[in-house]
Amino acid sequence: MTYRTLNSQLVVARYDHDYPMIVRGEGVYLYDDRGRRYLDGSGCTAAVTHIGHGDAQVADALAAQARTLAVHPTHAFHNPLVERYFERLCAFAPEGFTRAWTISGGTEAVENSLKLAFQYHRAKGRTGRRRFVGRWSSYHGNSVIALDVGGMVLRRDFYTDLMPDLHLHVSPCLPYRRPTGVSEAAYEDALVQEFADLVAAHPDEIAAFVAEPFVGSALGAAGPTPRYFERIAAICRSHDILLIADEVMTGFGRTGRNFGCEHFGTHADILACAKGISGGYLPLGAILVRDVVAGVLRQSGDPFFSGQTYTCIPLAAAVGLAVLDRIEGDGLVAHCADVGGYLKRALQSQLGDLPVVGDVRGEGLFLGVEFVADRATKAVLPAALGFSKRVEAACLNHGLVVLGARGTVDSTQGDHLLLAPPLILTHAQADELAAALRAGVVDALASAGL
Ligand SMILES: Cc1ncc(COP(=O)(O)O)c(C=O)c1O
Repeated sequence: MTYRTLNSQLVVARYDHDYPMIVRGEGVYLYDDRGRRYLDGSGCTAAVTHIGHGDAQVADALAAQARTLAVHPTHAFHNPLVERYFERLCAFAPEGFTRAWTISGGTEAVENSLKLAFQYHRAKGRTGRRRFVGRWSSYHGNSVIALDVGGMVLRRDFYTDLMPDLHLHVSPCLPYRRPTGVSEAAYEDALVQEFADLVAAHPDEIAAFVAEPFVGSALGAAGPTPRYFERIAAICRSHDILLIADEVMTGFGRTGRNFGCEHFGTHADILACAKGISGGYLPLGAILVRDVVAGVLRQSGDPFFSGQTYTCIPLAAAVGLAVLDRIEGDGLVAHCADVGGYLKRALQSQLGDLPVVGDVRGEGLFLGVEFVADRATKAVLPAALGFSKRVEAACLNHGLVVLGARGTVDSTQGDHLLLAPPLILTHAQADELAAALRAGVVDALASAGL
């Protein structure tokens, strides 16, 4: 099929590509201007559309609040709705998180989490704590510092000249790709030791460690080994290094728990949130902070040295509350755990006989598929094939949106998909998704000559 090209955007992902025009969404489906229907298997880009498209309850809350009070002079007033929302956010968070603060998206959530960690140490008189540790093959957002700490080489490399050569990285935890012959336990030991060595090499320099509980677009919903976060957290605690969980994709029920880090015991000090927090109905991000961290700032007498135009605005609070009403009122977290398990099994059964499928992983409705040239050796497919993007395009022809990505291995090679459909997905729609994905992979294999 061919579609008109775009003339008005500064950039498009691919200049040589005709994109369908999406004009409407309803539930888990998107519709283009020719009436074609697509199942939103990626949760738009990506893992955003928690409660589906066209939700009247949220749309009404947004419109009503826009009529009442969209923004207020935050330098002069508080707002009761914002206060109520923050209390609700903290109640939704794991125990011990008592402070919330909203901004406009995930990059800002991560950047403000880093700044807060920096200020936490400053408030304790530790002026040397200005380095952050991230993991290679993670994505934490698109500002220069978020790209730097993130370590997703394919997105980061272009900007390295703007990076201060300050922040540090350790290896990702990707059990599927552990070295041949190494047990999962030994793999975990090595990763923990790597972090311990880094901390020892930089005494009193590291402010925080930041990680996605399940690595989303960079690794295709890869979760850690069982005790990885518990052991990393123990090292952090013994050096008073703050642990920031990047829950931008994994928060608000996406993995079948309220927050992704809750699968591993919640060790984080700060949760960086976005995406599902508003279900896409408004650009929104938040940081949720443990009382002990916020207390250090309070004691110092300094406010948090941050704040932007759309910090803590009533419009965001109204949408956030309406989305939480849907997530909690409709039991979407438990539903996500159930339908996510069902979808994972459907994917394993639909894709299991295709040798190009190396791994199906993830939790809840945060699932990934990794492609390989050879299942036994886990060799990657040649980059020139652009296999994950081929699958993405083929799936569109079967009425399914998925997100194809590269960089599963060393952040540069390897192909995978991220699946993150709305939490309202039904079992029948999960079957539809799995069948369309199989058809897309089969077509991609044919078009790649495999
Ligand atoms: C884990 C993670 N952190 C941060 C971000 C940045 O969020 P945003 O695009 O809302 O700035 C993303 C975006 O995909 C993400 O996946």
